[in-house]
Amino acid sequence: MKIVVVGAGYVGLTTSACLAELGHEVTCCDIDGQRIAALQGGVVPIYEPGLPELVAAQIEVGRLQFTTHTTKAASTADAVFLAVGTPSDEEGDIDLSFVDAAARAIAPHLKRDAVIVLKSTVVTGTARRVKGIVDTSRGRRDVAVASNPEFLREGSAISDFMQADRIVIGADDARSEAVLREIYAPLEARGIPVVATQTVNAELIKYAANALLALKIGFINDVADLCERVGGDVTAVADGIGRDKRIGLSFLAAGPGFGGSCFPKDTRAFASTGRRHGAPQPLIETLIEQNEARKLGLATRIIDTAPRKGRVAILGTSFKANTDDVREAAALTIVPLLQQAGLSVHLHDPQPDGAKRLLQDAVWHDTALSAASDADVVVILTEWDEYRTLDLADLAQVMRGRDLLDYRNIIDAERAAAMGLNYQGLGRAPLAFEATRRGQGIAAMPRVAASPA
Ligand code: UGA
Repeated sequence: MKIVVVGAGYVGLTTSACLAELGHEVTCCDIDGQRIAALQGGVVPIYEPGLPELVAAQIEVGRLQFTTHTTKAASTADAVFLAVGTPSDEEGDIDLSFVDAAARAIAPHLKRDAVIVLKSTVVTGTARRVKGIVDTSRGRRDVAVASNPEFLREGSAISDFMQADRIVIGADDARSEAVLREIYAPLEARGIPVVATQTVNAELIKYAANALLALKIGFINDVADLCERVGGDVTAVADGIGRDKRIGLSFLAAGPGFGGSCFPKDTRAFASTGRRHGAPQPLIETLIEQNEARKLGLATRIIDTAPRKGRVAILGTSFKANTDDVREAAALTIVPLLQQAGLSVHLHDPQPDGAKRLLQDAVWHDTALSAASDADVVVILTEWDEYRTLDLADLAQVMRGRDLLDYRNIIDAERAAAMGLNYQGLGRAPLAFEATRRGQGIAAMPRVAASPA
């Protein structure tokens, strides 16, 4: 099939490269000439494992091209995917002007029976509204508007596309459903289920899926708080509940609150849609507040742990591992609060470019150990593998203080304590209990230094 993707951002680019890999003839368009020029030269301007290789391979075989001439490319396409930005405003509502503008721009040029596919995350009812825009612009009803939400995670976007749990097709007519089924036929042939439904349901599926995943995270973070009070270990609790297949193990890792470009924005939009339609979503409203409060609460903990005017190293500024994205990352809330409290903040991230622009007045380091040198407190905020495998003996040696706050629970508490570090995970049991359970006895445990006053 001949496919055009409008928008060469994270979703547009991944979708383009993967659709080309499925055998389609894909043209990815963007109004940003510099970005397109870079892509034409095979340079992928975002950090996503495997994407540069896939883009290069598809350019090479001639199935993927890039252009700024959107309307020209769209005029011969069977399907045009809109993957443009949908930023959110203060109220949580999302701004659909880029979607509307793209639909208006291409509508008069599309061939008869073409299908516009909404890939951008949009509020319920958008596909039907855009259909109205397109019909009015063309003066006839021969172009369909479908919905095909994406479920890609940054850092694993290609496998999330190629080995999706399901493909959701929202179509209000048989022809657009057939076009989308044909596009995804290679994946369906590999056994990936296709959920075909009306556009309104497809749009709701996207928001409800993200809201439910975010709720799992919010729930386990609350359980982590309780574990701390009663001497439990949230990793054991998550394992125990997650093995119930009805619950599932994923999205039960306690952490510093969810961030990124999707969960915070999509939960706000979901809540706002509910309010607007007289069907409030109180669970999600509470979740949003809890998630913000969590970041503030952890900042307070760090401030309480560090000595006055002390030095704090933050390891990890990206909102999660394997991405350079810092949108709504915990570090963006926590670092300024530490600085306001008079602490000197030293930062490290393996992919620091985005964060460096936003956290300019902190001290940046090229290595985790250099950031941790002379630190009174070291805080892990992102679960990069590099931090999982940190040499704790080296860490203990370069630090001035002893406090290691692991807000991703990626460090072995006993190993940290054996190095004389005062380890605090999130919602994790005091070491003495764990040692007793394993029959080692409290006496066998290394002494855990108290936090400096
Ligand atoms: C999320 C969804 O997982 C994708 O399915 C969806 O397509 C995407 O949003 C989107 O709507 O475009 P993403 O934002 O890339 O993907 O990241 P996730 O891996 O879902 O993580 C989101 C946040 O939750 C991160 O801050 C992460 O650290 C946090 N998280 C995740 C936890 O705190 N605990 C967990 O167990 C899992």
